Amino acid sequence: MEVEKNLQIDTYPQIWAVGGGKGGIGKSTVSILLAFWLARMGKRTILVDLDLGGANLHTLMGIKSPPKTLNDFVTRRLDSLEEVCIDTDIADLRLICGASDVLTLANPHVAQKIKIIHHIRKLDADYIVLDLGAGTSFNVLDFFLVAERKIVVLTPQPTSIQNAYSFVRNAVYRQLSKLAGQQPPLQALIRSAMDENNELRVRTIRDLLQAAEDISGKEMMEKLQKEIEAIRPAVITNMVVNSNDKNAGRVIQLVSEKYLMIYPRNYGGIAFDKQINQMVSDMVPITRLVQSSDAFANTYDITMKLL
Ligand SMILES: Nc1ncnc2c1ncn2[C@@H]1O[C@H](COP(=O)(O)OP(=O)(O)OP(=O)(O)O)[C@@H](O)[C@H]1O
Ligand SMILES: [Mg+2]
Repeated sequence: MEVEKNLQIDTYPQIWAVGGGKGGIGKSTVSILLAFWLARMGKRTILVDLDLGGANLHTLMGIKSPPKTLNDFVTRRLDSLEEVCIDTDIADLRLICGASDVLTLANPHVAQKIKIIHHIRKLDADYIVLDLGAGTSFNVLDFFLVAERKIVVLTPQPTSIQNAYSFVRNAVYRQLSKLAGQQPPLQALIRSAMDENNELRVRTIRDLLQAAEDISGKEMMEKLQKEIEAIRPAVITNMVVNSNDKNAGRVIQLVSEKYLMIYPRNYGGIAFDKQINQMVSDMVPITRLVQSSDAFANTYDITMKLL
């Protein structure tokens, strides 16, 4: 009995974070469909709206006005995140709605952010799917970086591809900056290198690691390299219309390998489906997407691969 209890305490949920930089590319839609499939596969899943500036996941789930939100936890009206979870009409799928009080949560203090992450890890579930906001603010990147599965969504549009690359790049630099910790010269180097036209002529991560070795030694350089290699984003192309569209993910792979020394994996595409738009307009939960939908089948395949 005691052993069983300890085992339970030691099992943490696996976190999947869904980001991508650009707004309106389907991060929330993809988060919902992945969480839906995880639940359908019998995994106890919690979908969390971490779009702190513009929470709308509940709307896509057909909920007009959420009874409880993350804000109730941040303002301590509710003591635990577990209490903020609401059931959905899908077995094994629960939901944590984003804060409707935008002002309190749009820019949480570091301590609040750490608290949220800490409590997410303690949730009673097998999988947690984090729906992130648009952009590359530290808040978005930090939630992305704590996840075991770092999912980057893009669409085939050039602007979206650029934004997705920029998102990955910012995530890499954010991770480096965290690792550099209390070493001011290294921090300064990383900050300068963020600017692509920096005067130090650091153009790629390879250049940066070389410069880091000169400043902080080989051991530190190797540590940085290992950590960024471990980022390995999972790339998903949404709103695919023709077969060429699927190559968008390949572009992210090639550019990331060349300039960032990271090796994203390409998980394929999700078809553009008119039904999804209609469902959003009619406030029908996206989880009711019909079985015949290609997007439905694509997200099933992707969830299987991600598992
Ligand atoms: N595969 C798809 N086919 C058709 N429409 C889609 C698809 N995926 C998403 N959409 C539509 O695109 C719109 C934006 O989707 P969604 O809200 O998921 O994007 P987002 O990236 O989360 O946006 P935001 O940055 O504002 O949070 C929605 O109206 C949704 O219905
Ligand atoms: Mg969204």
